[in-house]
Amino acid sequence: MDDLHTIGIVGGGTMGAEIAHVAAASGFTVLLADADLARAAGGRDRALDIAMRRVARGRMTDDEAARVADGITPVADITALADVDAVIEAVPEDLALKITVHRQIDGAVRADALVATNTSGLSVTALGDATAHPGRLIGLHFFNPASTMRLVEVIAGAATAPATTDRACMLARALGKDPVRAAECPGFVVNRVLVRAMAEAYRAASGAPVDRAAADALVVQGGPAPMGPFALGDLVGLDVLESIRADLERAYGDRFDDAGTVAPLVAAGNLGRKTGAGLVTDGDPAPTGTEPVVAAVYYAAAMDEARRLADEGVASAADIDLAMRLGAGWDTGPLAAG
Ligand SMILES: NC(=O)c1ccc[n+]([C@@H]2O[C@H](COP(=O)([O-])OP(=O)(O)OC[C@H]3O[C@@H](n4cnc5c(N)ncnc54)[C@H](O)[C@@H]3O)[C@@H](O)[C@H]2O)c1
Repeated sequence: MDDLHTIGIVGGGTMGAEIAHVAAASGFTVLLADADLARAAGGRDRALDIAMRRVARGRMTDDEAARVADGITPVADITALADVDAVIEAVPEDLALKITVHRQIDGAVRADALVATNTSGLSVTALGDATAHPGRLIGLHFFNPASTMRLVEVIAGAATAPATTDRACMLARALGKDPVRAAECPGFVVNRVLVRAMAEAYRAASGAPVDRAAADALVVQGGPAPMGPFALGDLVGLDVLESIRADLERAYGDRFDDAGTVAPLVAAGNLGRKTGAGLVTDGDPAPTGTEPVVAAVYYAAAMDEARRLADEGVASAADIDLAMRLGAGWDTGPLAAG
């Protein structure tokens, strides 16, 4: 794209490394900053690992992988980003930390630089209010793994300039992604729909013994989702899920209540796939007849939350469906039928 050539990425962890990989493979020059140079170099190494894995699977050419190797320079700190055209911040999901980091970015980058945060759910408005140039700040919510997921939710804060939103969408497209604009609300689009549906399914399963794997299988057989709510929770990580769900319950109330299903597992250190134990266990009972109810509740709740998003004007029905297809892997969006 015309005026965006060099991208600074702040935070080279899970998401920062994925985004650095995508940006370098797309032809951008990438400067990767982390808390120190060694961590930034670690982020660059992770981005190279992603490229190597994609080459091995035939998903990336050697030329593209060479671009990743050559295109990412680790830097010691944010002051090295003085000349970048855009910054994507991917430090941990903590508003106080993000405010500190964005103040450093404000002090370092050119006045015309685009500044994006990859927050999963913090308020872009609150972050903008705490920084010097809220007009150029925007939420660009990449999905994990960003190397393969095409969706980017584009979230304007109250003070984000319309030109910033347009530029952010252009940047997302130049990174090979499909931007979906959504108004700011807790959970944005995909997490709000999925976590609502998961919480309701967990609640429906809480009163009686349920074969969770069987309920998951009915969800996959009976509708557009590629995975049922229990396997999805284990994949996302129950600690991550519980933190998002609790935030959404505080924001929207009881419809995000999961009847205390996940919190005890987190307290016991059972976080899903990453610890080897979670919602789906070998100790589930044989199917009890409740499984079809759980599957039906999952889709009904997803559809209800998607309708609420459309009614609130957070995004258009078409964009909500597109977001669910690209961000959650659904064959069709929840609103397509209605
Ligand atoms: N992991 C996911 O699945 C996912 C998906 C979408 C969005 N997000 C969001 O992306 C952001 C990053 O998440 P993550 O999972 O990549 O976290 P992570 O913990 O894997 O990585 C964060 C990185 O930030 C670095 N960092 C910490 N403090 C810093 C500072 N002051 N200056 C520079 N770098 C600093 C850390 O060293 C680390 O490398 C969060 O806002 C998260 O909500 C995560």
